[in-house]
Amino acid sequence: MASREGNIEMGKKKLPLFSLLSLLCLTSVFFLLSSKAPSTPLSLRTFQIHSTASCDYSHGTWIHDPSRTPRYHNTCKEIFKGWNCLSSHKSNAPQLPTWRWQPQRCDLPQFDPLHFLRTHTHTAIGFVGDSLNRNMFVSLFCTLKSVSHGQIKKWRPAAADRAFTFLTYNFTIAYHRTNLLARYGSWSASDKHGALETLGFREGYRVDVDVPDTTWAQALSFHDVLIFNTGHWWWAPSKFDPVKSPMLFFKKGQPVIPPLRPDQGLDMVLEHMIPYVEKKARPGAIKFFRTQSPRHFEGGDWDQGGSCQRDRPLSIEQVEELFSVKNNGTNVETRLVNEHLYKALKGSSFITLDITHLSEFRADAHPASAGGKKHDDCMHWCLPGITDTWNDLFVELLNSKYQG
Ligand SMILES: *[C@@H]1O[C@H](CO)[C@@H](O)[C@H](O)[C@H]1NC(C)=O
Ligand SMILES: *[C@@H]1O[C@H](CO)[C@@H](O)[C@H](O)[C@H]1NC(C)=O
Repeated sequence: MASREGNIEMGKKKLPLFSLLSLLCLTSVFFLLSSKAPSTPLSLRTFQIHSTASCDYSHGTWIHDPSRTPRYHNTCKEIFKGWNCLSSHKSNAPQLPTWRWQPQRCDLPQFDPLHFLRTHTHTAIGFVGDSLNRNMFVSLFCTLKSVSHGQIKKWRPAAADRAFTFLTYNFTIAYHRTNLLARYGSWSASDKHGALETLGFREGYRVDVDVPDTTWAQALSFHDVLIFNTGHWWWAPSKFDPVKSPMLFFKKGQPVIPPLRPDQGLDMVLEHMIPYVEKKARPGAIKFFRTQSPRHFEGGDWDQGGSCQRDRPLSIEQVEELFSVKNNGTNVETRLVNEHLYKALKGSSFITLDITHLSEFRADAHPASAGGKKHDDCMHWCLPGITDTWNDLFVELLNSKYQG
């Protein structure tokens, strides 16, 4: 999807080099090319210029660039108080926007919000997911609002939690809140001979794997672009306690027997929701699925005094230490969730918005104790902050989709 633009851009960059061909002998050209890309053989680079393989935005490094300024002001009213790290005086908050993600073989530019509004008139974009998708939604809203002078209407179309229409452009962004994508509600034993009762279940949450949450079912006929996520709630034993209040999965209105573990339930929900979206979305709608946003609890989980006190991005070694599935650390669900997502999205028409690895470095970018909770918030992100980069990637992929 990103292929067209990525390659055109690479082509452009290479153009001056190729025009030198007639002037220079082969060896010096080789020297020029290889000195620009010392780690990649010439044949491979030539292949990349002409191939349709897209740029891999997920591998790269964070570069400190003090000249970079935030995309929007922290007075943007949509910023949830606990995420407003400048207002709550988190010490490194002013530095957060001065880091730039540099993919290995291409650039990820900051998108131009005014150009974005002008080229996406009569368009509605829906974020469907948990509070991490709301974090990304707020980033996009504040970025666009900072350049837009016309009226903005706040409303709740298609059961959205909130939506804003930039009237000058007839451009709408909405947030639809859903934790599991599928509908769920509390369940308690009622029928002595019921399948779950017979197995000893008394209390729990009924999750209907084949029924979308009412908060977003109508969103599919409303939006032109959709960005889904789910993940955090599947590994949230504080709500879905495996003993006291387990997830109990239902399909076609009947309990699934034998009962499934949450990770198996996630597979079943994705198996139903992905084709559902493909069938019910507006014709031509562009659908994204965002990968898991990493948490950065160190020294314990959120309810065990875990914290995130870093003031700069992690090194690649620290990232592997913290997130490798083999280490089974506190935040291991990050990559586990993605394994489920990748499996479910294979062969679908969804575009994968892969923000996981680039975000894994950013242990410094959470509200931590500035989140205003009893415990550190090492899960959500400060705004302005890293979800601004997620939106740069989203816009990059969206534009290449329109052009492709
Ligand atoms: C505004 O945009 C929506 C799509 O988001 C479209 O359905 C509607 O017709 C547009 N309204 C006008 C007045 O152009
Ligand atoms: C991972 O660690 C948790 C406790 O932190 C433990 O309950 C679980 O069994 C471990 N899983 C594996 C596969 O080792």
